[in-house]
Amino acid sequence: MLEVRNISLSFGGLRALDNVDLYVEEGKIFGLIGPNGAGKTTLFNVIAGSLHAESGQVKFMGRDITGLKPYAICREGIARTFQLKNTFPNLTVFDNIMAGLLKEPTDRKQRREKALEIIEFLGIEGITEAIVSNIPPLDGKLVELARALATSPKLMLLDELISGLIPSETEKICEIIETLRDRGYTIFQVGHEIKPIMRTSDRVFVLDQGHNVADGPPEEIKNNKDVLSCYLE
Ligand SMILES: Nc1ncnc2c1ncn2[C@@H]1O[C@H](COP(=O)(O)OP(=O)(O)OP(=O)(O)O)[C@@H](O)[C@H]1O
Ligand SMILES: [Mg+2]
Repeated sequence: MLEVRNISLSFGGLRALDNVDLYVEEGKIFGLIGPNGAGKTTLFNVIAGSLHAESGQVKFMGRDITGLKPYAICREGIARTFQLKNTFPNLTVFDNIMAGLLKEPTDRKQRREKALEIIEFLGIEGITEAIVSNIPPLDGKLVELARALATSPKLMLLDELISGLIPSETEKICEIIETLRDRGYTIFQVGHEIKPIMRTSDRVFVLDQGHNVADGPPEEIKNNKDVLSCYLE
């Protein structure tokens, strides 16, 4: 579904991505891990169109989407959540979700119905009128996810959705991600907390200092010497 080929990008003298290659298969959960500064968020920014690579190509469903604007990539069917919360802080939860639905050529009534479906699916009925800046971290993540879902994506890029939470909350997010996969969404997730990423992903890619280190099923990655050394050295 997604093919990233030879993507390179530098910030001044820092080569944040150096010929990165990876792919995501439709209907699966793929993970991307790597130490701080490995380039994970930068790669998501390139895929989603908010940063332009110096070289390389991104293909989605067989179409070259390299260099398209973020809104055009969203229209192709790629949605994302952000490592640093990127919701509208002064709007209600409901209006944040409606913002994601503005891309639909439907009327307000239909958009409302779709927003209510997403709210019910995520179990956030109790906070729809809360102002987003006042809600706790787990709810903040669910609102990010709700707004991404509102754009009717095929592929969801989840940047650190599973992180900074207590274990029961992590468990809840893992279950939601698996349910989304079972409902036909394809997931590409980045995370610091390796265990939940390993547990939920069908395949994991590893980046370190902008380079591909390894990829494979989680059980293989756990025992990969190059992966262990990039975390420990
Ligand atoms: N806008 C920017 N300007 C300059 N340097 C940047 C910029 N964005 C990222 N970097 C640098 O690029 C490298 C990759 O950063 P990136 O945020 O992609 O890493 P990451 O793998 O997402 O890390 P983390 O696990 O901490 O989220 C880091 O060294 C970072 O400091
Ligand atoms: Mg990051």
